[in-house]
Amino acid sequence: MTRTSLLLSLAIIFSMDAAHGNIPSAIKVVENRNTWKSLTLFGSHMMADDPLTEGPDPNSKLVGWAQGLYGSASQHDISLIMALSFGFVDGDYSGSSVSVLGRKSAASRVREMPVVGGTRVFRLARGYAVAETYWLNVLIGDAIVHYNVTIVHY
Ligand SMILES: *[C@@H]1O[C@H](CO)[C@@H](O)[C@H](O)[C@H]1NC(C)=O
Repeated sequence: MTRTSLLLSLAIIFSMDAAHGNIPSAIKVVENRNTWKSLTLFGSHMMADDPLTEGPDPNSKLVGWAQGLYGSASQHDISLIMALSFGFVDGDYSGSSVSVLGRKSAASRVREMPVVGGTRVFRLARGYAVAETYWLNVLIGDAIVHYNVTIVHY
């Protein structure tokens, strides 16, 4: 039997989510015919391809992409169910990815989502991603989110 030890990695990244502009990084792909009647936009579904950067400045170094789906999953408050792959293209984790799947309530400033797996250096990953809004413009739908991802992997 071989013994392998677990590693703990931390990734501090910022995601730039832009719903406006000529080439938005998050677009609505599906909604129910009743979605517009819902105060929580229940049923609305977005596809995102958001740059992940090293710092909160959109011009800071690009380290990866947060690609996936998020949809409005609650009829009682604004909360999203998110299924995202954080794929790294630069830095220590280049070529590897982690998958994040979980619910995120828009009402709370700090949200937590499970890391359910990963590839390459993050194989067999488990962990959690703590998301904190760094900047938000609700009128145009753009947001900069700080992610602190704690990952246990082989
Ligand atoms: C990130 O999370 C880890 C573990 O939860 C914590 O020790 C660390 O202080 C956090 N770092 C930042 C910058 O929030």
